[in-house]
Amino acid sequence: MSKEIFNKIQDLKKQILHHDRLYYNFDQPQISDHDYDLLYKKLKDLEDKHPAFKTKDSPTQKVPGEALDKFKKEAHSQMMLSLQNSYSKQEIKDFYERMKKLLDIDSPEFFMEPKLDGVAVELIYEKGFLTKALSRGDGKVGENITQNIKTIRGVPLQLNPMKTSSQKTPSLLEVRGEVIILKKDFKTINKQQEELGESLFANPRNLASGSLRQLDSKVTLKRPLYFYAHSLGSSKNFSVTNQKDFMEALKNLSLPCLLTSKKKLKSPYLSQLSNSLHHLLKYYDEINKLRHSLPFEIDGIVLKINSFEQQKRLGQTARSPRWAIAGKFHPEEAITQIEDIVLQVGRTGVITPVAVMKPVSLSGVTIRQASLHNFKEMSRKDIRPKDFVVIHRAGDVIPEVLKSLKEKRNKNSKPFKDPKNCPNCKEPLQQDGDYLRCKNILCSAIRERSLIHFASKGAMNIEFLGEKNIKKFHEWGWLTNFSSFYDLPNKDLTQQEGFGEKSFELLVKSLEKSKKTTLSKVIFALGIPHVGEQTAQKLAEKVLEKLSNKSCNLHAALSILQNLKEEELTEISDIGIVVAASLRDAFQNKKLIADLKNLHKKGIYFVEEKKTTQLKGLQFVITGTFPLDRKDIKKSIEQKGGKVSSQVSKKTNHLLVGKNPGSKKQKAEKLNISQINWNEFKKLT
Ligand code: IVH
Repeated sequence: MSKEIFNKIQDLKKQILHHDRLYYNFDQPQISDHDYDLLYKKLKDLEDKHPAFKTKDSPTQKVPGEALDKFKKEAHSQMMLSLQNSYSKQEIKDFYERMKKLLDIDSPEFFMEPKLDGVAVELIYEKGFLTKALSRGDGKVGENITQNIKTIRGVPLQLNPMKTSSQKTPSLLEVRGEVIILKKDFKTINKQQEELGESLFANPRNLASGSLRQLDSKVTLKRPLYFYAHSLGSSKNFSVTNQKDFMEALKNLSLPCLLTSKKKLKSPYLSQLSNSLHHLLKYYDEINKLRHSLPFEIDGIVLKINSFEQQKRLGQTARSPRWAIAGKFHPEEAITQIEDIVLQVGRTGVITPVAVMKPVSLSGVTIRQASLHNFKEMSRKDIRPKDFVVIHRAGDVIPEVLKSLKEKRNKNSKPFKDPKNCPNCKEPLQQDGDYLRCKNILCSAIRERSLIHFASKGAMNIEFLGEKNIKKFHEWGWLTNFSSFYDLPNKDLTQQEGFGEKSFELLVKSLEKSKKTTLSKVIFALGIPHVGEQTAQKLAEKVLEKLSNKSCNLHAALSILQNLKEEELTEISDIGIVVAASLRDAFQNKKLIADLKNLHKKGIYFVEEKKTTQLKGLQFVITGTFPLDRKDIKKSIEQKGGKVSSQVSKKTNHLLVGKNPGSKKQKAEKLNISQINWNEFKKLT
């Protein structure tokens, strides 16, 4: 018997550690948080019943996760702990009673906060300046992610006590909190990933974590991350005595926390103080109800003893403080049956399997379909036609099939066979990373999606033409390629149902308006695989550099695009060999070239690119000599939204160091300011 229990414990430990690695180190969880917590609870219950089998290396005795080698590892001055989880009101009641007993107080005071589903980080402010930021790692040692944290708008580089408050700048302040990404941004970024045929992020937490783990902080800069503070590490000259005052002090120092009063966040509800069990339970229900209307993901509430002195008295275990508990929400899941698996052809030819399911209601929305992303993912999850499946809404936005219920599966069920041919044009498909792709440039399904993309807002922005009309005109043979959009006014449109004089006029107007555009929009509009808005922008910048003294027209730009060498392409920071090959294929394609020449003839032209925002909020100082003239470097920084100043100060984000630097270098060293060389700078832009 005991051997059996020992083996069971060993097995659970192995499983949990495996899932910890997937979640914390690779940002690729394979089970839901709830299933993970169930495994954890099983292990904890077994260990509590059989303490002889509890070992120091058990996941119940340590903070999950570890620091990765790719960043410099640094020790936390105080351990960054995890939280005890609870899934029922009874467990919250037990916690309340435990606190009463341990503190010997009738009604202890609690600070109640939402539990943000993000990535834990620690920001270290010395004499008011952000000098270091660490990830949680294994709780003892984290990764130094200072450069990436500095790209987060809203994280002050310098603390700024409000004039009206008595709060002074502390000489040391270690603030802990969560880095998150908003649900709407998660949705947009995943849509872009899907369109480009790149892997999807499982949920907003995952995307935030992946963004923070970038070695290249310019990638982090592009991700709209937010930080919210929730707890205190070490501090000096910072005299607060409880969690509520701590949060107020953070607000005064302009650090974002869940007291930050933003209407959208319904802040009066977000954090509260209470000493009654009734309120604690009510708060759990209220926040649970509110969670879907919040702009970010939360997965529960956190109840903390308010007084720091009482917290100290209660102490901590190896893994979590005794003075706090997470009241986790039950995941919103539903069970339904897959009726069919259909195949969709995207504009870049990616074939996506989509589960068509018996309609089911999930957090107030009726779900009928869910993307299964790609065939590898479908086979990893072993999802088959007619399976009963558990679905949930990832990031509260996209319905996702979590798993199939194998026990309910029909004996004769067979896995879905990967298609060999395009469901539309029947041409053989090709494997491209995780995806199957139709590479037939004549495939009408791809053409239809490409035409819709060409006219869309971020591309040529032909305002009047919606998806429905494009599909109709394509079906009638009026839209055959990109330039054919500009032939539409020659068609007898007014004879078509629902298309009067007024619509005709609007169409002509919006076509005319779309003719004046930017080169990056034209490149993006072409829908070249792996070429999203950012890459198109970079490529356009390169072409514009080369075009500087020549005429700025589509014909000239095309000839540059056709002649760009592979080395010139891969020199551009967003472009690797896969993207370069995709660009080469596109600009050697005779049909596309003819189409582009036609667009030029129809009067499509581009003007100088507008300012971009890659360097928004960053202040640079330049020292030494560079391959480019100083004036041009300054112009390029300003065009990208950054600022250049002549003196190094605490406000400087980066000192750009060239050959033979001057005294600014020493000053930057003194102030601990990031120094970057020409190559690093080029990567950043
Ligand atoms: S307090 C444990 N408050 O949840 C030390 N943590 O699952 C005190 N978290 O590692 C943490 N929202 O990163 C606290 N309002 C909140 C939180 C919160 C999210 C994270 C935190 C912790 C993890 C444990």
